[in-house]
This record gives sequence, structure tokens and C-alpha cells, in this order.
Amino acid sequence: MSVRICVPCETTSGETRVGLSPDAAKRLASETVSIAIETGAGDAAGFQDADYSEAGVEIVHDRASLLGGADVVLKVAPPMNGELDEIREGAVLICLLRPHENAPLFEQLATRNITSLSLELVPRITRAQSMDALSSQSNLAGYKAVILGADNLDRIFPLLMTAAGTLSPARVLVLGAGVAGLQAIATARRLGADTWGYDIRSAAKEQVESLGAKFVDLEEDQAKDAETEGGYAKVLSEDEQARKRELLAQHLAKADLVVTTALVPGRPAPVLITEDMVASMKQGSVIVDLAGEAGGNCALSEGGETVVSGGVTILAPLNVPASLPYHASQLLARNLSSLVKTLIHEDEIVVDLDDDVIGPCCVTHAGEIRFNT
Ligand code: NAI
Repeated sequence: MSVRICVPCETTSGETRVGLSPDAAKRLASETVSIAIETGAGDAAGFQDADYSEAGVEIVHDRASLLGGADVVLKVAPPMNGELDEIREGAVLICLLRPHENAPLFEQLATRNITSLSLELVPRITRAQSMDALSSQSNLAGYKAVILGADNLDRIFPLLMTAAGTLSPARVLVLGAGVAGLQAIATARRLGADTWGYDIRSAAKEQVESLGAKFVDLEEDQAKDAETEGGYAKVLSEDEQARKRELLAQHLAKADLVVTTALVPGRPAPVLITEDMVASMKQGSVIVDLAGEAGGNCALSEGGETVVSGGVTILAPLNVPASLPYHASQLLARNLSSLVKTLIHEDEIVVDLDDDVIGPCCVTHAGEIRFNT
């Protein structure tokens, strides 16, 4: 027996990433594991078919025969446009399944007896760090958010002392200091901005400060118990949020760039910046709202659009990692190949639902839906 891993072209509009890089394919292939990709699958990410061939990957022109012969399908976005019908019954599908918004897809996966693993549901435990695609992609999104913000500002980030005078540094405020937020803080610092970070988790203070930024300490004691066991934030009550918003408004009014990344998994994004707060911000200031897909951290954000209100520019870019497809695919490929390795036992695929990574991220298996939306 042997295991055949297949990687099709992405068909979702705007998706430039690919599920496997040539390097990752080389590391994954073995005497009992063969890898095949659809012609041109890596083109948009900067990986040519020749790079894959050199890595020992078979290039398959006919998508239906590729997917029909797969034991494991590695993808970025959920299957669309009839892709699901082409995947062999009984195969394993691993991708960013968007589990909280894709319930109808699960029915189809279960009916076709496809085992599906959602990268979004990989637990944030030490053993699964190399499989954590949300973190790898958020990291890049945090970086890019600052670059987008800088590009939309009418000023530079660093302090500049010149013969023509001194320019004071831009002030950057990052709301939500998780993976994306911390990378945004690090990037803003590298560019020389006067950088501030805020999060409801008290643990974030030390992390923000360790990057050389200042922590916005709204109400210390309220923050103390705002962390759950899983390392995520819990939901704040409306009253608590309102109190925080008042204090936060004072910081927003001083910022040139605000990057928002606040998230409670599986819920709509908390609105941290109200319309009134935007009105009190400086002319020319910019908000980059990374939470646009989940409704936005700013009340005026429109996912995928740029809104200008009272001289404040509000960007809510969607699928930011796809704007950095080479590196995003490189990291995603590492996440996917680490996850698939846990399924390969010698020359066959074993889906062990008792495994502390596979169990939580398995959405469908043996004809049943295991994930509750
Ligand atoms: P994360 O879970 O690592 O961090 C989220 C942070 O928000 C946590 O530290 C949490 O404590 C904090 N938070 C929650 N509620 C808050 C509140 N009321 N006030 C202040 N902080 C609060 O998540 P990660 O991976 O950093 O992602 C952050 C956001 O960026 C998510 O909404 C994610 O969907 C989005 N994202 C967007 C991308 C895009 O293309 N637009 C790409 C990647 C991530």
C-alpha cells in the first residue's frame, strides 16, 4: 500500500496561496508517500511546475483524475465550484474549512464519506504549534496591516532629524495583542513608530512591552480574569465593554494609525471603535481593521472596502495572507504537512479520533458530522 497526497489549484476568487510548496513536498514524500499537484497549482504563489517536478512531485493536468485518485487532498480554501464531487469517497480533506460558516458543506462531506480536518480547529497546544495555520497566517496579516496602514498615511513612521527640521514619530495603536497584533506591534516598532498595544488579557502586557511598545492599561483588575484556559479571550459583558470604550477613545484620538485585531473565536468581532470614536480621531489618521471578515472591530468598517469618514481612512482588507502568497504558502505548507504526517502510519492513513490534535479538528468522519457550529 502507499499514500497518495494531492494538491489541486485553488478555485476560490482571490485565493493565490497553494496547499504545498516544493520544499514541503520534498520533505513529505517517501517510499510509501507519493505527491501529485494539478498543473499550475503553485503559479500564483510563485512556485512553478518545474520546481515541483524537481522535488519529485507528479504534475497532473486532469483535475478530476487527480482528485479521484487522492488518499489525502491538501487545499487552502474550502472546496467550491464542484470540487467536492471530484474528491474520491473515503478520502481525507485538509484545508481552512471556515467551520463556523460552512455548515451546508459538512452535510455534503459527510454524505460522500470524506474525512475533513479543519486547520482553524487545530488546538493551540505545544504539540500542534507547527500545524497552527491560523497563527502562521495571522502573523503575516499583522505585518501586512502595518504596511498597508503606512502606505495610506500622510506621514512617515520614524523620528527624523534633518537640516530642514525634526519630524516626530507616528503614533501607532494596536488593539488586540494576539498573534496578528503582536506582529503588527513588532512591525510598527521596526519602522520606528511610537507604538502602543492593548488587549483584555493581562498576559498581553508583558508581551507588548517585550517588543518595546507601551501597553494601554485601561483597568488592570478587570483584565485579570479575562483569559480562559484555552489561551483565548472570553466574551466581555456590554457594560464592561462600554467602560473600556470610553477610556480607549482618549488613546484613539492621539493615534495616527490604529490596527485592530480583536477576536473571540467563533463570535462576531467585538466593536471596539464606534462611529463617535472615529469622529474624534485626527484628520489623516488611518484604521486597518483585520477583523473585517468577522464583522469588524470598527463600526464603520466594510469588509474588503476602504471607507473615509471625517478625514479618517478605514481599511478592512480581506484575506490579507493571499497578498503575500509566497511566504503564506510556505508557512501553510509546513502546517499542512505537519498535520498530514500525524495521519500517516507507515503506508496507510489512520484517522485516530482520540489523538489530541486530530480529534478536535475533525469536522466529518465515517459519514458523520462531528463539529457543532
Ligand atoms: P488571536 O486569538 O491570537 O488574538 C486575538 C486577540 O484579541 C487576543 O489576544 C484577545 O485577547 C484579543 N481580544 C479579544 N477581545 C478583545 C477586546 N474586546 N479588546 C481587546 N482585545 C481583545 O487572533 P489572531 O490570530 O491574532 O487574529 C486576530 C484577528 O485577525 C482575527 O479577527 C482574525 O480573523 C483576523 N485575521 C484577519 C485576516 C485578514 O485577512 N483580514 C488574516 C488573519 C487574521
